[in-house]
Amino acid sequence: MKEKLQEEFKRRFGDGAMLFASPGRVNLIGEHTDYNLGFVLPGAIDKAIYVAIKPNGGKACRLYSLDYDAQIEVDMAGPLPEPQWARYIYGVVQEMQKRGASVPAFDCVFGGDVPLGAGLSSSAALESVFGFALNDIYDLGFERKTLAQIGQMTEHNYVGVRCGIMDQFASLFGRKGRVIRLDCRSLDYELVPFDPEGCRLVLLDTMVKHSLASSEYNVRRMQCETGVAVVSRHIPSVRSLRDMTMDMLNTYKDEMDEVVYRRCSYVINENQRLLDGCKALDRGDYALFGQKMFGSHDGLSKEYEVSCDELDFIAGIAHTTDGVLGARMMGGGFGGCVISLVQDAAYEAYVGDVKERFAHRYGVTPRSIDVVISDGARRLE
Ligand code: GLA
Repeated sequence: MKEKLQEEFKRRFGDGAMLFASPGRVNLIGEHTDYNLGFVLPGAIDKAIYVAIKPNGGKACRLYSLDYDAQIEVDMAGPLPEPQWARYIYGVVQEMQKRGASVPAFDCVFGGDVPLGAGLSSSAALESVFGFALNDIYDLGFERKTLAQIGQMTEHNYVGVRCGIMDQFASLFGRKGRVIRLDCRSLDYELVPFDPEGCRLVLLDTMVKHSLASSEYNVRRMQCETGVAVVSRHIPSVRSLRDMTMDMLNTYKDEMDEVVYRRCSYVINENQRLLDGCKALDRGDYALFGQKMFGSHDGLSKEYEVSCDELDFIAGIAHTTDGVLGARMMGGGFGGCVISLVQDAAYEAYVGDVKERFAHRYGVTPRSIDVVISDGARRLE
């Protein structure tokens, strides 16, 4: 990938590009908790978006996407560009300028190996690699935390998804062999060793393309806010679901819609599952951690209702397969991947079985993606 980008850059724009990478992510547990200011447990993966970039001294930026084989010219002082992929880059520049930075024009070539639309946060990787690269080449002095917020606000303001901060944070802060226990309220985090001896993580992609912007994501967010509004009328210290207990929720249950109740209940329980899961990890108890993953899937499917038939089907097989310690749908939902924690000895039979039974039922073979927890955003030599 590095050579390919360098060559393409040279061919289009000449010598002297600098290279950067920022990865996609997995999340072990803690889904739809980030925008409720709870906890998440993501890790960066060994698949990334790469960019070759160089200031061009001109007025407009020249952007080339390897994956779409398309080059466009964008004036960052002008209107929002047409193609979706260019909006991410445009958004990052705008968000940097809002924070006082001056970002002169540049040329770039970018591409990567994060599967698109599979819930591995290719868009956060794209925002993060541009944030990181521009910060470096123009010496803008933003901290990584601010770069994560810049990526998140790009989604809010230029893409229309009111996402939390998990994906960008994981892409920027990832570390090899560690998952990130992030408190989304304070942004304090801890790098937790993740080294399940004799086990591995595998993703099974339903090939169902999730479309977060298709409003359901934003609807969930609003339902959570509605629940918070009801309880905070009585207990003003409750400002997010992070501040709410099941007791509080149950006390004011009658004042809210049944759907809102279920959404809030899921989030409160998911935060607790994550905390219990982390304690299990500290003791090296991966079997108990796996149970929490199954619990998470159940809640996402029944209470939060962001799963789909295909995801439930795979999670169901995982549940009844010996040697699969845990499995759950991952990311925003409505498609994408199931992440499983599997014993090495059971891996092949499990993946084979899922592929065969899934293909028989849905007529498509899911792809399996092995992931290794890896480093976050970086400059490449
Ligand atoms: C998407 C969002 C994240 C997070 C997850 C669900 O990946 O970008 O902020 O909310 O969904 O946990």
